[in-house]
Amino acid sequence: MRILGIESSCDETAAAVVASGDAVLSSVVASQIAMHGKYGGVVPELASREHLRAIVPVVREALLGSATRLQDLSAIAVTVGPGLVGSLLVGLTYAKSLSFATGVPLIGVNHIEGHIHAVILEARRDGVPVEFPALALVASGGHTHLFEVRPDGGYRLLGKTRDDAAGEAFDKVGKLLGLGYPGGPVIDRLAPLGNPLAVHFTFAKMKGNALDFSFSGHKTAVLRWVQARHMEHEIAARRAMLRDHPNPSLAQWLAVTPQPTLDLLASFQHAVIHELLTRAAAAAESIGARGLIVSGGVACNAGLRAAAHAGTAPYPIHFPSPGLSTDNAAMIAAAAFPKLERGQFSTLDIGAHANLPLA
Ligand code: KG4
Ligand code: ZN
Repeated sequence: MRILGIESSCDETAAAVVASGDAVLSSVVASQIAMHGKYGGVVPELASREHLRAIVPVVREALLGSATRLQDLSAIAVTVGPGLVGSLLVGLTYAKSLSFATGVPLIGVNHIEGHIHAVILEARRDGVPVEFPALALVASGGHTHLFEVRPDGGYRLLGKTRDDAAGEAFDKVGKLLGLGYPGGPVIDRLAPLGNPLAVHFTFAKMKGNALDFSFSGHKTAVLRWVQARHMEHEIAARRAMLRDHPNPSLAQWLAVTPQPTLDLLASFQHAVIHELLTRAAAAAESIGARGLIVSGGVACNAGLRAAAHAGTAPYPIHFPSPGLSTDNAAMIAAAAFPKLERGQFSTLDIGAHANLPLA
């Protein structure tokens, strides 16, 4: 049973063919990061235009790379939300057209469910299947959510960010400090060279739902720290370095990043990790979780992985491999597999929804 997955919710055009729910036969991702980098974030109009340019070759490459013909497919799975509507529509319209032309059934998938299934897929393939109920922490540029994943495959929302998403906080701090876009990977690389306890960040006690997150305070603390230090020259030097070297080596970063800034980055990352893991642990305990799933772009963070594994959680912790952490289409095909087994298909009038909730 082969499923073609298509994903175009943000700034990656992706297609993949997955067999039997967990064998990734091909996974193609065309990233637009270099284009949006110039503007310090994703520009929606440019994103949809790029998706339009990339969708046909990307899907063709995924089919060719897995030696799959359209008539071999059991379903076409596509992201229907949440995300940028203009971007979602490109993948969705293309998937609908393919489905209509070939008669292969269509399955609409929630992007966040995809992120969760990226982990379920790999864990099963690696012989350490996720046990349920599981707690899923999804942390990316657009979302920071805690879900209970029930044994029947259903979801319950336990907590979410009240302001910025975790990845968005990394990106905003990166932009503020002249580290380019996206900020997460660079901060991850530089943070181990600083002292994580050098700068104090407050851990907010949340009124109401104690499992909700807040990251805007961390971003503001960084802004205040920067404003108090007249760092214009240092930041300008990093921006200039990035213009000359779009993919800097560690030595090139260090030549323009003094120790106090490394300490700030280490402390900021430490605060974000503490926020994520503390609330995830509390949520896991509240549902008697038998496993913790961490997914979304921020799951790539080496500091987060190390801190999660250094803890004393009484359940296994599952991270996806880096290629399945950030946006991809294998996770969309994987999430569609249980729906295919249950015969849960979508009709051709299904729409794209920017704020589609999972639960
Ligand atoms: O899941 P994703 O590819 O796209 C969204 O659905 O948002 O996540 C992208 C986000 C960006 O905010 C990026 O800065 C963050 O994930 N990210 C990281 C790392 N790699 C990507 N954040 C922290 N550490 C990383 N290594
Ligand atoms: Zn994502």
